[in-house]
Amino acid sequence: MNKRVKTLVLLFALSIISFQHAFSQNYEFVLDAKKKGAVVQSTMYGLFIEDINFAADGGLYAELVKNRSFDFPQSLMGWNTFGKVDVKNNQPLFNRNPNYLVLSHSGHAHKHTGIENEGYRGMGFQKDASYRFSVWAKSLDTENQKLRIEFINSKNDIIASAELSVDSRDWKKYQVSLTSSATEYKGRLRVFLASKGSVAVEHVSLFPAETYKGRENGLRKDLAEALNDVNPGVFRFPGGCIVEGTDLETRYDWKKSIGPVENRPVNENRWHYTFANRFFPDYYQSYGLGFYEYFLLSEDMGAEPLPIVNVGLACQYQNECCQAHVPVGELDAYVQDALDLIEFANGDINTTWGKVRAEMGHAAPFNLKFIGVGNEQWGEEYVERLAVFTKAIRTKYPEMKIIGSSGPLADGEQFNFLWPEMKKLKVDLVDEHYYKDPEWFKNSATRYDKYDRKGPAVFAGEYACHDHASGKDNNFLSALYEAAFMTGLERNADIVHMCTYAPLLAHVDAWQWKPDMIWFDNLSIVKTPNYYVQQLFAKNKGTNVLSLTMNKQPIAGDNGLYASAVYDKMEKCYIVKIININNGKINVDVALNGLPKDKKLTVSNSFMLQCDNLKLTNSLENPNNITPKPASAVMNNNKLSVEMSGYTFGLYKLYE
Ligand code: AHR
Repeated sequence: MNKRVKTLVLLFALSIISFQHAFSQNYEFVLDAKKKGAVVQSTMYGLFIEDINFAADGGLYAELVKNRSFDFPQSLMGWNTFGKVDVKNNQPLFNRNPNYLVLSHSGHAHKHTGIENEGYRGMGFQKDASYRFSVWAKSLDTENQKLRIEFINSKNDIIASAELSVDSRDWKKYQVSLTSSATEYKGRLRVFLASKGSVAVEHVSLFPAETYKGRENGLRKDLAEALNDVNPGVFRFPGGCIVEGTDLETRYDWKKSIGPVENRPVNENRWHYTFANRFFPDYYQSYGLGFYEYFLLSEDMGAEPLPIVNVGLACQYQNECCQAHVPVGELDAYVQDALDLIEFANGDINTTWGKVRAEMGHAAPFNLKFIGVGNEQWGEEYVERLAVFTKAIRTKYPEMKIIGSSGPLADGEQFNFLWPEMKKLKVDLVDEHYYKDPEWFKNSATRYDKYDRKGPAVFAGEYACHDHASGKDNNFLSALYEAAFMTGLERNADIVHMCTYAPLLAHVDAWQWKPDMIWFDNLSIVKTPNYYVQQLFAKNKGTNVLSLTMNKQPIAGDNGLYASAVYDKMEKCYIVKIININNGKINVDVALNGLPKDKKLTVSNSFMLQCDNLKLTNSLENPNNITPKPASAVMNNNKLSVEMSGYTFGLYKLYE
């Protein structure tokens, strides 16, 4: 190209840029770089897990066998049996899971006896990966007995096989490793009696050898890593409605979720029948992923654990009046459960519950600081019970921060009744829940601007944008509007101390509720655009809020623009988040006021989440449709200039 042609090309390119610029909207923001405002709590962005959508059993909990102890109410649910198989419970090995099976030889050389487990909508096996099969067994004969273990694919081919010799007349745990010769999403586990006598089997279990952090009673690695990668500051567990139960008998009882896994009793999962149109009769909780494991995971992720305890109320939606309420005068056992939980988490190893924790492998305390009392309870019945709990917890553990509820809705009668009551009880944080449509998210970025600064802080404990028009997909629209709304949480970080999206996990073949932050099948996971929004905020939460304005006003929806800014003392950088929910391209200049003259900032590590199609989602087939991409920006004389496409969440980091 000769010089003249080059000049023409350059001029043409420049004219296109200035043409575009002329037709883009231009906005001027002002960032007060001098005044480092309210502290952003380390707990600001977190995660909330509930065993809904097969999130725990069949999901994060890496156990592949469903109904491993034969103690579902239909004792053989999830199992096919062939030959001579009997369910027994006399002289049980584990008193809280009494059932076991006796497999006996048919008496004919060509007829087989055995059992086959279907897993949670199949079992996922990876080619060349190893799996740890274990079983408690005893020979009921004078001879040793033999078991043959096989993985079966969806075509009924054997893709792994191993044998075990049951050499004891007493119960004993046996273990063998199998390596899968093929990848299979919908496999099964088959166990044959391969000898001529009888054998009793109990707690038949199969885990991938590789779990998160290599733990034996471990978590699915890909899912746990995805949670860790959010960089959550707080981890709320175990629910949600499962804390309440449909009745008190089936509430989440943390004491049943600890100790040896074999003796953690099966509990009914209320999501098995909550929605008649999404009925899952095989949905039970094994409690294999129990409170100890939840505390461990919090620790692994560097998140503050936040357990929720039952307040003496079963689900108020499902129990019209008082049939499932513990009378206020009879709450002792429930209150004691809460106090014991704090001791389990924090007590030294000479305390009753601290000793239990130490025996499970964690002598050091978990350093629990927060406890939620009740899920999304409401009414006078909640307040009077919460009062009993707060008094008891404060007397014994005055430093513990207590979280109360504002009911199931973001506003309205119950909400308006509960907030003043929470103030009277002086709870430390109030949990708010909102599953709302895009319009609400669009209009609510100023929600906390006028909240009372003297009362309890806010925990946005469950929220998600529900785009009903799309069937509540995790589409880009919902993610973008959540990001827009979250700038309002961040701007108000002096009063909003925690927020957690909900629900967290969903099995593609077994979900009850959508949208959800991460979807998965038996081998793969899908991080939704909503996941990336949470991650971008959580990884860039900064340490102090900064004032960011346009025309001296917060940027909270005018012209479809939303923005917030924080300073990060550790990274020594200013972080600006801008969301453009409109279609058109925009140019934004952010002037940083109050910087010393000799200070020159540089912009790098900036990201954007952008998609022209608001209805697009990530899927198992196309998991990377919408992911964060590097964003370009220019720093000139300490003014940040960015050009943003329509439908964009941009995050810019300006380093000192
Ligand atoms: O997140 C799903 C459910 O929504 C939770 O269990 C409950 O707290 C809320 O109603």
